[in-house]
Amino acid sequence: MLDPSRVDRHTHATGEPAPSALAPARPAILSVAAEVPSSRVTTAQLAERLGVSEDWIVSRTGIRARPVAADDERLSEFAARAGSAALHRAGVDPADVDLVLVATLTQDELMPNAAPIVAHAVGADRAGAIDLGAACTGFLSGLSLGAAQIETGRADRILLIGADFTTRIVDWEDKRTAPLFGDGVGAVVLGPATGELGSIGPIVLGADGSGAAAIHIAHTDRKLRMDGPEVYRNAVARMGEATLAALAGAGLTLEDIDLFVYHQANGRILRALAEKLQLPSDRVVDVIENLGNSSAATLPLGLAAAEDEGRLKAGARVLLSAFGAGFTWGAGVIEWGGSGDA
Ligand SMILES: CC(C)(COP(=O)(O)OP(=O)(O)OC[C@H]1O[C@@H](n2cnc3c(N)ncnc32)[C@H](O)[C@@H]1OP(=O)(O)O)[C@@H](O)C(=O)NCCC(=O)NCCS
Repeated sequence: MLDPSRVDRHTHATGEPAPSALAPARPAILSVAAEVPSSRVTTAQLAERLGVSEDWIVSRTGIRARPVAADDERLSEFAARAGSAALHRAGVDPADVDLVLVATLTQDELMPNAAPIVAHAVGADRAGAIDLGAACTGFLSGLSLGAAQIETGRADRILLIGADFTTRIVDWEDKRTAPLFGDGVGAVVLGPATGELGSIGPIVLGADGSGAAAIHIAHTDRKLRMDGPEVYRNAVARMGEATLAALAGAGLTLEDIDLFVYHQANGRILRALAEKLQLPSDRVVDVIENLGNSSAATLPLGLAAAEDEGRLKAGARVLLSAFGAGFTWGAGVIEWGGSGDA
């Protein structure tokens, strides 16, 4: 049997002996940062190209414009810029990062994965590096896995990035999907809470592979195909259920939450969720209008926007929830500790 004291932390690829066990700790998000491409495609431009009405798209999705990466822009470069900014804000030296997690379904190449490229680019040369695949639930899944590493003392500093250039897998001729998606990256640094504030509570994750065909990319055409109404119904139901399950797990109620940051899938889903759970709109983050759905990036982009707008204060209780292909979904409650320089 393995001696647990010998497998407590990542052994470094340099061959250096692994540092001794870290103490179990209360994990927290120490900072957040965002990066989106500067080029945008407006819904008016898209509607003209698709031969449909701009009003139809806006009324169905709430999206007026989406950032679209240029052909020569690389996801890993945006992820590294967001990652470096998050590390800087948290005051964490890249050399101290134990693990780089990148949630994505649109890495630059089929192989290698994005995480090792990002780790190298930010100077996290001592870190392990893993891509996570859970589609739009990827960031929340990474938050659960990363928090557990810190909680158990297996890692001290983790760079977690949600990054997707979804427009690379969108069929621009498909009016049912093209209007929904956009490109973006958001990064957070996870570590032991530094003061009284900041925690990552229980995160509930779920999956139902019987919904696999509803959002699907085949190797043959490498384009996203979607049964919109089926996804819509499941997204509202599952994020609603997961919200209540996460709150129950944290011993909280809807009234205890200062801010609800849902996967920015589309405006109608956000509105339906808010209605179903009777959430006041001033406590629901809605940044879909100018960002679109950037899959694994939407949660950290939502957190970054809320912090920029002064809506995310130290000590705020935040409910995060996501839903995506698979189907996969989840929700969790965090207490915001505050970004270092915010
Ligand atoms: C995609 C979505 C906006 C479509 O809205 P909807 O009301 O469900 O529309 P339907 O797909 O049932 O299509 C209704 C009609 O509108 C048409 N339509 C679809 N997209 C259109 C567009 N962009 N402009 C104009 N008409 C459109 C359809 O062709 C259909 O007409 P038809 O019956 O003559 O074929 C909606 O289903 C949705 O928001 N789904 C969730 C998708 C999502 O968020 N996915 C990401 C989750 S991670």
